[in-house]
Amino acid sequence: MTKIGHGLPPILRSATADLLTKYGPLLFDWAARHGSPLNLVWPDALRENLAALKGVLTERRVQHAIYYGAKGNKSPGLMQAALSASAGLDVSSLYELRDARRLGADGARLVATGPAKTNAFHQALINCNALISVDSPEELEDLIHGLPADAGQQPILLRLRPRDQSKSRFGMPPDAIVHCLVRLAGEGRLRFDGLHFHLSGYRRETRVAALSEAADLIAEARRMGFFPGMIDIGGGLPIQYVDRARYDAHLAAQAPEDYRTGKIPDSFYPYGSTLSAADWLHRLLEAEMNQGRSVAGYLAREGLTLAMEPGRALADQAAITVFRISRVKAVGPDSHVIFVSFSACETWFASEFLIDPILVPATKATVQSPPVRAYLAGHSCLDEDVISNRWLTFPTAPRAGDLLDTPTPAATRWTSSKTSSIAIPCPLASASSKTPKGGPISFPDTIGEV
Ligand SMILES: Cc1ncc(COP(=O)(O)O)c(C=O)c1O
Repeated sequence: MTKIGHGLPPILRSATADLLTKYGPLLFDWAARHGSPLNLVWPDALRENLAALKGVLTERRVQHAIYYGAKGNKSPGLMQAALSASAGLDVSSLYELRDARRLGADGARLVATGPAKTNAFHQALINCNALISVDSPEELEDLIHGLPADAGQQPILLRLRPRDQSKSRFGMPPDAIVHCLVRLAGEGRLRFDGLHFHLSGYRRETRVAALSEAADLIAEARRMGFFPGMIDIGGGLPIQYVDRARYDAHLAAQAPEDYRTGKIPDSFYPYGSTLSAADWLHRLLEAEMNQGRSVAGYLAREGLTLAMEPGRALADQAAITVFRISRVKAVGPDSHVIFVSFSACETWFASEFLIDPILVPATKATVQSPPVRAYLAGHSCLDEDVISNRWLTFPTAPRAGDLLDTPTPAATRWTSSKTSSIAIPCPLASASSKTPKGGPISFPDTIGEV
C-alpha cells in the first residue's frame, strides 16, 4: 500500500519556489538548453549566507577569514560570488585551484585544507603563496623538499586531530604538532601561521573542545618562539534543508518497509537542523572554553583570527539539481522505479537522502491517478546505483520527460561521483530572478561567463 507518510519537502527561498511553481515551462527550456541533470545556482544566495556569518563575527568583534569550501559546489558562479564578497576559497585539488586563479583569486585569498595533496598541487600552491594546511609530518617533509632554495616565506597551518576524533585519519595529535614545530624551527622558508582542524559531525561542543586543545598548542608554539595568528575551525556548520519538526516526526515514524531494502539506515546527515549556520556560529562564539572565557573572548585576548571553510552552509539555498526522468518502470503492483541520468550518492554511505524531490510534470495529467510510490535510481548498470532507497510518494504518477527538482545538498555527498565512473556531464547554469523584464533567466555557469 502506498503510505502517505510524514513528507520531507525542502525549505526553499522564494526565488526558487517561484521558479518551480510558476515557471515550470522555463525549467524545461533550461534543461533542454543546458542539459540534464542541471545544477542551477543562485550566487546571490551564497552572498547572503556569507553576510549572515560575517554579521555574527563582526558583531562579536572577532577577526575572521572565511573561505568558501569550493568542494561544497564547484560552480564558478558560487566561487566568484564568494570572492566578490571578500571571502576566500578553500581549494581541494589542483583543478579547483586553477578555477580559482582563473576567477582572479590571488594566493592571499586561498587556502588548501585537504589531506592528500599531490606534489603538483603543492607546487601550484607555493607558486601563488596560498595558505597550506599541513596534514601530517610526512606532508611537511614533502613540502620542504618541494620548496625552491630561494623561496620567500610560505605560510602554513598545522592540522590538529582533536582527541575526540582519535580514529580519524585526518590531522595530527598534539605530540606530532610539536614535532612539526621543532622541524619548522630550523626551516626559515616556512611560516607557521596557526592551527587548523575540521571535524565531522555538527556539534558545537566538539569544536569548543578542539579549540581548547588548539589554544594549548598555540601557547606552546608561542613559548617556542613562533607567532601564530590563526585558528581555523574548518567547515561543518549546520543547514536547515527541511523543517525540523517534520524531520523529527519523519525519523520517529519511519519503518523498515519505508525502504525498498527493508532496512532503515543507521545514520543520516542532519537534514533538519534546529539552528541556522549563523545562530550556530553565534552560540559557538559565546560558548565557554575554559576558566570562564568565551571563545570570542579568548580569540580577542590572544589576537587570533578565526578562520573557517564552510562548504554546504554557504551553498545552502544557492543551488538546486534538476533531473529529467528518463523512465518510470513498475516493479510491483503499487511500486515503481524512476530512472534519472545521475549516479548514486548518499546510498553509497549506507545512508539516505532525506529531502523529497519536487515533481514538475511536462504536461498536465488528463486523468487523475492515485498517489504513486517509487524509488530513485541512477542510469548505470549497477544494481546498487540507487539515489534513494526510500519509497517516495508522488501525488500524481511521474512520467518519463517530467522533471524532478531538489536542493543540491553538497557536491561532496551528491555530485562528487557525477562524472567519474559513468561520464554524465552535469552542466551548471546560473539563475537570476531579478531581470529588467521581471522573469527569471539563466545563463551557462562557466568561468568565461561569470
Ligand atoms: C577539510 C574540510 N574543510 C571544510 C569542509 C566543508 O565542510 P561543510 O561542507 O560541512 O561545511 C570539508 C568537507 O568535507 C573538509 O573536508
